[in-house]
Amino acid sequence: MRTDILLIVFSALILFEVLAVQYEATVTQRSKQPALSIKNPKGAGYSPCEYTFNPGWIPDLYPEGRKDKAYVIVRAAKCPNEFGGQRDHMLIATCYNNGTCDDISTRVQLPFEDEAQDPRIIHLEGWWYLFYYARGSGLKTTYLRRSRTPLIMNSWESVALFPWHRNGCMLIRDKPPHYCLYGEAPPLKAVGLATTVDMKTFTTINDTLFKANSKDDKYAPEVVIEASTPIVQLSTGDYFHIYCAGTPGWVANGNYTCGYIILDAQNPNVLKQKSQDHFFGPITDYEIGSGIYPVQRKRTIFATSLVPTGRKDEFRVWYGAADANVASAIVNVKVVG
Ligand SMILES: *[C@@H]1O[C@H](CO)[C@@H](O)[C@H](O)[C@H]1NC(C)=O
Ligand SMILES: *[C@@H]1O[C@H](CO)[C@@H](O)[C@H](O)[C@H]1NC(C)=O
Ligand SMILES: *[C@@H]1O[C@H](CO)[C@@H](O)[C@H](O)[C@H]1NC(C)=O
Repeated sequence: MRTDILLIVFSALILFEVLAVQYEATVTQRSKQPALSIKNPKGAGYSPCEYTFNPGWIPDLYPEGRKDKAYVIVRAAKCPNEFGGQRDHMLIATCYNNGTCDDISTRVQLPFEDEAQDPRIIHLEGWWYLFYYARGSGLKTTYLRRSRTPLIMNSWESVALFPWHRNGCMLIRDKPPHYCLYGEAPPLKAVGLATTVDMKTFTTINDTLFKANSKDDKYAPEVVIEASTPIVQLSTGDYFHIYCAGTPGWVANGNYTCGYIILDAQNPNVLKQKSQDHFFGPITDYEIGSGIYPVQRKRTIFATSLVPTGRKDEFRVWYGAADANVASAIVNVKVVG
């Protein structure tokens, strides 16, 4: 009898411990200048485009490739004609794990739909999958393509078009099903979650995984939220995702800033934690749009890639700053509860 009771108490404690695990994410090491900007000196991440932002990271996995180097698909606009012209389109840059990029000096433009933008990229079984926004009918604006040879532009074959307004952010697991966080809300009612086994057919399992906070929320008021980075796994097995949000007054007077969520290791459909605060807001000149750097939208951060650094629960986040520059910083995630 006594052992039974002890066992129950003990299990309850363990359960409590498991449920009580809380994480805290911090951002450090923002660089003095953006990784890519029209205001960077030539030879130090110069871009010929007035707006260069929202980077999607493709590690160099070619056999002759270098471990510290990546190809990065960026959103660009207001470019010279030989770099794709005024309207939004996507170009390719070369960047490094230390947060620097080479100048964008050759035109490698993805030949997709009009105004294709905001790449989010993951790798699975030899394929690179690229989610992005382009014009579509109604909310059908999230496109998915894939390629085995990402630098050969016409190798990006069409896979699907989703009614997810703007965003698709993948969580790749050891075995299917894989999960996708999607959407921008509004116009959607919330960020949703879909599953897939074949990366072609996706089934929504929760269209309201998390909503924008109230605009009167004490810590993190929100008027719009977007699924933002691909989802990475932590050493505990749980999953980490950065979402970004507009605060009251957005566009003209608010911030675009980011929070995070944690999904459960065993059941990624369980939202284990949503950050109370926005942990990653605009503070540098190139994020605020107050210095020499170009600005399309003031006080804007939009995180689009999370790259493991090799240290425990540490990632380099790559993001768009002021919708006009590419930057990166270090994110550390710690268990605090
Ligand atoms: C970053 O890495 C690249 C490639 O290894 C190297 O050329 C460059 O000097 C490094 N920059 C810094 C600031 O460490
Ligand atoms: C969707 O996720 C939210 C947050 O975890 C949860 O409260 C809700 O019950 C879920 N809905 C469904 C249909 O699973
Ligand atoms: C924007 O963010 C900064 C820094 O986090 C904060 O001080 C400021 O009040 C915010 N402004 C608005 C309009 O939300």
